[in-house]
Amino acid sequence: MNTTAMEKTPSEVVLPACPFRQVLKGQKALVTGANSGIGKAVAIALGHAGADVVVNYVSDPESADQVTREAMRFGTRAYAHQADVAEEKQIEQMFERMFQELGTIDILVANAGIQKDAPLEEMTLDAWNRVLGVNLTGQFLCCRAAVREFKRRGVRPAISCAAGKIICMSSVHEVIPWAGHVNYAASKGGVMLMMKSIAQEVAPYRIRVNSIGPGAIRTPINASAWSTPEAHAELLKLIPSKRIGEPEDIGRTAVWLSSDDADYIQGTTLFVDGGMTLYPGFETGG
Ligand code: BGC
Repeated sequence: MNTTAMEKTPSEVVLPACPFRQVLKGQKALVTGANSGIGKAVAIALGHAGADVVVNYVSDPESADQVTREAMRFGTRAYAHQADVAEEKQIEQMFERMFQELGTIDILVANAGIQKDAPLEEMTLDAWNRVLGVNLTGQFLCCRAAVREFKRRGVRPAISCAAGKIICMSSVHEVIPWAGHVNYAASKGGVMLMMKSIAQEVAPYRIRVNSIGPGAIRTPINASAWSTPEAHAELLKLIPSKRIGEPEDIGRTAVWLSSDDADYIQGTTLFVDGGMTLYPGFETGG
């Protein structure tokens, strides 16, 4: 009878060789909103780079489980944890469990984000509060919990030369105004100065804090902007590189930005946007 990998004890399982240098070996990462889109690609990329990963999600546990399985492909640990990032108690419990199961945290990717778009005069207070709650307050709560642990624990030189790394998932809309999306743009503008202020405050403790500012990435959040040929053609007018981004573009960036290779990068937003922030309207004018 054939035995499957699932039936073998861990020491018997022969894992496939990892094709990458595992620059995050031994590190413990938490990625919020990690069951789809950019968060999913980041969680998988961190796992493949050697980190143990907590896959936070708020709905759709099956997709979160799939992400944990893929993140563990090269022998690291991962588990899914349901929590709404806008809820303080749920965030505290999520970090408590992480410390019990994985011991500590080295990398936080505060990624969870939503859009609830409407023209200003039709935007409800609920749509405003919920977007700010998830996109900005949610990042604040996660950053605060991570920094407390980074400071308590300090640097472990065998693991990383930093006491901890935070990546806030921002957007090109931290600098590009976005009509019809004022709640979203306000949340990302807020993330920019929250991130920079935290970075300034905690840098002396060897805690690195930065953002990634994705442009148009092929994910469910903006499917209407790329899923028809007409919308796709319109979108490309805003992207000098003339391609939509893939979630893996962000995954690879997150691995590098959280690795010691990026040790001197502090308080900055790395735009990964095919040039969307380069005022594409000026390509031919001005
Ligand atoms: C938004 C997407 C949008 C992109 C570029 C992102 O932050 O979530 O919906 O396509 O910015 O405008």
